[in-house]
Amino acid sequence: MQKPAQSVTSDMFDGQPSMLPEQQRLTEGAMLLSGFARDTDQQLIAALNDVIVQAPFRHMTTPGGFVMSVAMTNCGQAGWVTDSQGYRYQALDPQSGLTWPAMPKVLSDIATLAALKAGYAHFLPDACLVNCYEPGARMSLHQDKNEQDAAAPIVSVSLGLPAVFLFGSLQRSDRPQRLRLEHGDVVVWGGPARFNFHGVAPLADGYHVVLGRKRINLTFRKAL
Ligand code: SIN
Ligand code: FE2
Repeated sequence: MQKPAQSVTSDMFDGQPSMLPEQQRLTEGAMLLSGFARDTDQQLIAALNDVIVQAPFRHMTTPGGFVMSVAMTNCGQAGWVTDSQGYRYQALDPQSGLTWPAMPKVLSDIATLAALKAGYAHFLPDACLVNCYEPGARMSLHQDKNEQDAAAPIVSVSLGLPAVFLFGSLQRSDRPQRLRLEHGDVVVWGGPARFNFHGVAPLADGYHVVLGRKRINLTFRKAL
């Protein structure tokens, strides 16, 4: 028997839940906004390419002497850096001695909108850390605590290959939630979740139609 048109439409969405934007509360103060940045992906990537020309990705060294598997750069008034001196924000890119590239408006706009959607009005980031993961790259559990403004949330935009994001609590020893983050997904954490531990499991190999064998993550912060 022929199906009514209505059911054909819903079948088209079946198996593709990512076509339907959804939000998921992770804990008090933290929200996953699935697909929130998907429609803006081309503009975001074009703006990022301009940033990367001025401040290329590089593998920084932790204060303990380990080279990070994630390659990083920044845009905005301040950029997050790590070296033998420690973790900090600074106005100058240590590689070029120049200021970090300005934060493109398309980037700060998506961060402001995502924060608003998650319940944080008037979020104006002054720093955006850009992380580039290749297969095998990971980020161990940590808290974001080098920022001056603890009242502002962190907004994280994921592009390219999917990753398993580990989202814990205020205690490192608590088992983190494991969330699959896909191209265009945004996570916002602030308020009581602002200092929750988080990290990224080793990136599985794959090929993404837009970014190839890579995942790029942008974290927007109010650092100054
Ligand atoms: C970070 O904590 O800075 C990065 C998180 C991510 O790559 O999803
Ligand atoms: Fe972080």
